[in-house]
Amino acid sequence: MTIEPQRAPERVRKTAAPAAAAPVLHIRTVKAADLPAVVALDATVTGLHKAAYWQRVYRRYGVNGQGQRHFLVAERDGRVCGFVIGEVRDWEFGAPPCGWLFAMDVMPSARQSGVGGRLLAELAQRFRREGVRVLRTMTASDNSLIQSFFRSQGMRAGHLLPLELDLGSEGEGQPGAARKARR
Ligand SMILES: CC(C)(COP(=O)(O)OP(=O)(O)OC[C@H]1O[C@@H](n2cnc3c(N)ncnc32)[C@H](O)[C@@H]1OP(=O)(O)O)[C@@H](O)C(=O)NCCC(=O)NCCS
Repeated sequence: MTIEPQRAPERVRKTAAPAAAAPVLHIRTVKAADLPAVVALDATVTGLHKAAYWQRVYRRYGVNGQGQRHFLVAERDGRVCGFVIGEVRDWEFGAPPCGWLFAMDVMPSARQSGVGGRLLAELAQRFRREGVRVLRTMTASDNSLIQSFFRSQGMRAGHLLPLELDLGSEGEGQPGAARKARR
């Protein structure tokens, strides 16, 4: 039996694979071209496609913000993956000027990677530049996801108490009339 001399295995030079660059997250003021993405993102959360509503929001908070209204989007890899909307309100609800956050959404596939935190931080920064020192918001009492998020960002229960009145439908009389009639 002949034994073939064993060849030393060729050394394969390992070249380090180029590290994939982390996608850059950019927070900026909304542009008209972002609206279809915002409408689609809102629809993933609400189930409603509200193009006319978002046009109105854009006109009020986007182009006509005048420094006190903010409509910001988060962009990653050239795609909008989140938004936040807020406004400084002067002495409403009997409170000194403060910044209100009205709406916020992050695309489900982009969540839990810091997008929401960056959006909130940028909104807070813009409010600070306008001289306000408090940021407020309201959440649905059963939306534990957004509450966990806000708490993680340092937000705590404030001193305002939300009240509401069931207005009934047209023709049912003045609000509260039924209660008074029962007395
Ligand atoms: C709430 C929301 C904005 C958070 O966005 P996000 O990009 O995932 O937030 P971040 O990645 O910056 O998370 C920051 C912190 O929030 C908390 N958080 C986020 N998602 C959470 C989850 N699913 N469960 C529990 N805590 C959560 C965590 O403490 C997290 O910190 P960690 O990553 O160190 O654990 C996003 O989930 C969303 O858009 N939800 C629907 C929003 C909605 O209901 N809008 C209507 C009312 S305006």
